[in-house]
Amino acid sequence: MQRSTVLNWLREEDEERLGELWRFADAVRRENVGHEVHLRGLVEISNHCVRACAYCGIRAPNRALARYRMSADEILACARQAVALGYGTIVLQSGEDYGLTRDWMADLIRRIKAETPLAVTLSLGERPEADLAAWRAAGADRYLLRFETSNPALYHRIHPPADDCRFEIRNPKSELRNNHRITILHRLQELGYETGSGVMVGIPGQTYDDLANDILLFRDLALDMIGVGPYLPHPATPLGCQSEIENRKSKIPEQVPNTDLMTYKVIALTRLACPWANIPSTTALATLNRESGRELGLARGANVVMPNLTPPQYRALYEIYPAKACLYEPPEEFDAALKRRILALGRTIGTGPGHSKRQACAAPAASAQDRGAPCLL
Ligand code: 5AD
Repeated sequence: MQRSTVLNWLREEDEERLGELWRFADAVRRENVGHEVHLRGLVEISNHCVRACAYCGIRAPNRALARYRMSADEILACARQAVALGYGTIVLQSGEDYGLTRDWMADLIRRIKAETPLAVTLSLGERPEADLAAWRAAGADRYLLRFETSNPALYHRIHPPADDCRFEIRNPKSELRNNHRITILHRLQELGYETGSGVMVGIPGQTYDDLANDILLFRDLALDMIGVGPYLPHPATPLGCQSEIENRKSKIPEQVPNTDLMTYKVIALTRLACPWANIPSTTALATLNRESGRELGLARGANVVMPNLTPPQYRALYEIYPAKACLYEPPEEFDAALKRRILALGRTIGTGPGHSKRQACAAPAASAQDRGAPCLL
């Protein structure tokens, strides 16, 4: 897929033309990952974080936020609930919390693998290599770490180094040019994890060029999972406070809007660039368009949903952005409604772990040519 083609699609405004993009992305999704929508139970196990990411509500400097860390038994109860609801995967997500020690996490992963048939996905931030290796050895299947933007200058602007985090696998020279998370993604792949990444759409300062590069980087990294969602301003962050928003608006003509439409374009183009990938229709997207965001994501390239299984007393405290969709909905109710909506789209509910089809799929360029769609790619 050409860079210029990606850029043209990102700038496309015509509804009929965009209809072609949605239909093509949906067809490529169907051919490569089928009708199944895989459900991954998300458990937000801790909102402690040592980092100071400029966009994220659980950043360490947000002293107003009450912090929690779930017990192993609480997390196990969520895992059993995931099994009861028929999910094949549990996703354990947290801030970058070194209170979740290497050994404690390894024990937890071993318990989940011993007591349930679930695949285990971790999303615990930029942890040292020894942690990542220990968790893989304990049985973790997958790791999610969004690189957020492929533009190094923008990356460094929104990811200030925190004093007390443990950059054990940092390389100071390459660090200036590169996004450290990309180094970690390579290590995760070498460790044998199914590896996921992604970006936010419409970060202040993000241009169309940046976003096109992000999509091409998804392909070049041969990711198994790619999550994209709109950037949602959080008032307790430097990037989200009102003056910063106005400041940015006036300065950058090439600023990508943080809209649901732009997010659908990125999902669709990501499906074309990485036909094999597991792509979620994200909660951030459902938050921006409560009516139909989740379904439109699924209809325009996505094949995964991550229902939130975090216990109610912790949900509101995992506030990476404000007013998350379905904040107070009990899992059983959300699950029943979600499954109805998936079936109404003509899709089926995924069974089993829903592992990556990356190795089973043809190279994207070849499959696109076979399909004879040069006008789109
Ligand atoms: N808006 C949208 N997404 C956010 N994330 C963090 N903060 C925000 C925000 N304000 C996303 C990041 C992170 C993922 C877990 O949540 O992309 O990787």
